[in-house]
Amino acid sequence: MCGIFAYLNYQVTRTRKEIYETLVKGLLRLEYRGYDSAGIAVDGPKKTSNDNTICIIKTKGKVKALDEELYKKDSLDLEEKLGTHFGIAHTRWATHGEPSPVNSHPHRSDKGNEFVVIHNGIITNYKELRAYLINKGYEFESETDTEVIPKLTKYVYDNRENDGITFSTLVERVILQLEGAFALVFKSWHFPGEAVSTRRGSPLLIGVRSEQELTTDNIPIQYNSVHYNEGVQEKNSHNRPDSSSPIDCVGDGRPVEYYFASDASAIIEHTNKVLYLEDNDIAVVKAGKLSILRVKHQVGEDPVRAIMTLQMELQQIMKGNFDAFMQKEIFEQPESVVNTMRGRICFDSNTVILGGLKDHLKEIKRCRRLIVIGCGTSFHAAVATRQVLEELTELSVMVELASDFLDRNTPVFRDDVCFFISQSGETADTLMALRYCKGQGALTVGVTNTVGSSICRETDCGVHVNAGPEIGVASTKAYTSQFVALIMFALMMSEDRLSRQQRRREIIEGLRVLPELIKKVLALDKKIKAIADELYEQKSLLVMGRGFHYATCLEGALKIKEITYMHSEGILAGELKHGPLALIDKDMPVIMIIMRDACYTKCQNALQQVTARSGRPIILCCQDDPEISQMAYHTIELPHTVDCLQGILSVIPLQLLSFHLAVLRGYDVDFPRNLAKSVTVE
Ligand code: AGP
Repeated sequence: MCGIFAYLNYQVTRTRKEIYETLVKGLLRLEYRGYDSAGIAVDGPKKTSNDNTICIIKTKGKVKALDEELYKKDSLDLEEKLGTHFGIAHTRWATHGEPSPVNSHPHRSDKGNEFVVIHNGIITNYKELRAYLINKGYEFESETDTEVIPKLTKYVYDNRENDGITFSTLVERVILQLEGAFALVFKSWHFPGEAVSTRRGSPLLIGVRSEQELTTDNIPIQYNSVHYNEGVQEKNSHNRPDSSSPIDCVGDGRPVEYYFASDASAIIEHTNKVLYLEDNDIAVVKAGKLSILRVKHQVGEDPVRAIMTLQMELQQIMKGNFDAFMQKEIFEQPESVVNTMRGRICFDSNTVILGGLKDHLKEIKRCRRLIVIGCGTSFHAAVATRQVLEELTELSVMVELASDFLDRNTPVFRDDVCFFISQSGETADTLMALRYCKGQGALTVGVTNTVGSSICRETDCGVHVNAGPEIGVASTKAYTSQFVALIMFALMMSEDRLSRQQRRREIIEGLRVLPELIKKVLALDKKIKAIADELYEQKSLLVMGRGFHYATCLEGALKIKEITYMHSEGILAGELKHGPLALIDKDMPVIMIIMRDACYTKCQNALQQVTARSGRPIILCCQDDPEISQMAYHTIELPHTVDCLQGILSVIPLQLLSFHLAVLRGYDVDFPRNLAKSVTVE
């Protein structure tokens, strides 16, 4: 929803300009999380040593607009040297109140900026808190839920029993009053050079850059190495490490820098030493030392905290030679699917081992049914693989949209196994569904692309899909990696079934050559662009198919509507006669997916029905299929693979088509209007 970034330099002298640059760069990395307005809060100029002030600068629009604004403010000296300083920054995706400078973050306690706060998430009891505070004489200036937080902080501060209240105690008292989800970073001129951050339900991590070697010798922390792209990243590091010492504090008063962010992409260029906060943690940096405290009255043991070493290349999150992240991510798919399989499939012995699941395999095999839950594209990955999951596991498989699953209070039992598919690992509906299923006693399995995310941590076990960071709001490579991960799970489940051995071998062979076939599909880009040239002024686009390709229809239509703003619908060809056929005429653009699989004849029938109504279908079909090609207005011929993997190949032309349509229509491909990459509110 929103991106949080903050930077604290302790006894490391930085000019104000350098601090601005660090904050802006952090926000640019997080812009995919929200981009309708942005703001920062930094120390104001000092006339005397005790004269602490905070200066807030906010703009509507992207981070670039904020960056330009910073250099317009001639009241602040850009060359001023700041030995110890704490700056906070935020990029917003509006939930309460339209995008505007006053609604953007940081929000403040009062006109004197005593307390300023940045927030990601939603405060559900903000109306009650707001009414209470207004009653106490506090004046609100924005329409946001967030503004209650700094106001409440000042209220608690103003009503403290003694002068000795610490910043962290203050924050603790404030968050005990908050309901909803939040990651928060606080700054105050009452506590210069101090930072307090906390989270409940929204992600937050802290990067540490220090000249001292952070080892267990000088601080009670154990390193844990997280290999983002090694394919062998499994549950032990998917979750928190199991043998670390509890963290007391980092830093010994020597120079150190801290970076607070919603995700690692904003931190990795500064340091690879990071610490993920857990719900109800309060992280305090005071006199250069970082300590983690737990909010009082929280049940359960204090979780272990550890500094992790991220191995994530900055270039992984840069656009490279592509015009958009989405385009880059589409073209990364030959490698990203390899990363999903790496270290897990042995093509010589036809075996598949998902390390994060192997200890739970017996329990999963004994279960009554599998429930696969997700939202948007992640849900489509479940739809795409349902048939092969049913076939190879011989279990009943339900696929569920997380929001609908929750709305129905769906019955879940102790002998169910529930899968949660999520690229970000932070999607609120999926996370709520996970907590619901846990409450019912089911075994929970995460399939995510984000190490350290809430879904990773809260599931019993899981698979990291290792697609690498996905920045484009439209999900592409994460989908194909989720698809491959679920297929691998089905293969692992069927290893000892004699009757399935031939089928397993076919699929494993299909996975082996998959990257080469994806490259062949990507080579059709020019042809797809030419089709986009013909279609981009249309209002509507139907995508039709069935069987293994129904998910491709849903996913293709989602990509098109999401970034081109055209109306698009994924239609199950079997439903054609039950309504959608009425839409067909010579002017309605229709894409049909007709592959040589068990649904081939039925799809041909649907094609006849479309052409008989003067429809002019663009057909995705297998190479050398003259019968189909004859009836098509255009064909996109795809290499043939085993039926249950063909959907990986058939979705790519639709990813490319949506990309070209969006560019031709003049839209920002990576930042579609009204959408955010990570949907952390229900
Ligand atoms: C896909 O292009 C969308 N941006 C969206 O549907 C997304 O897949 C959905 O919000 C779920 O996100 P997740 O995978 O991070 O849980």
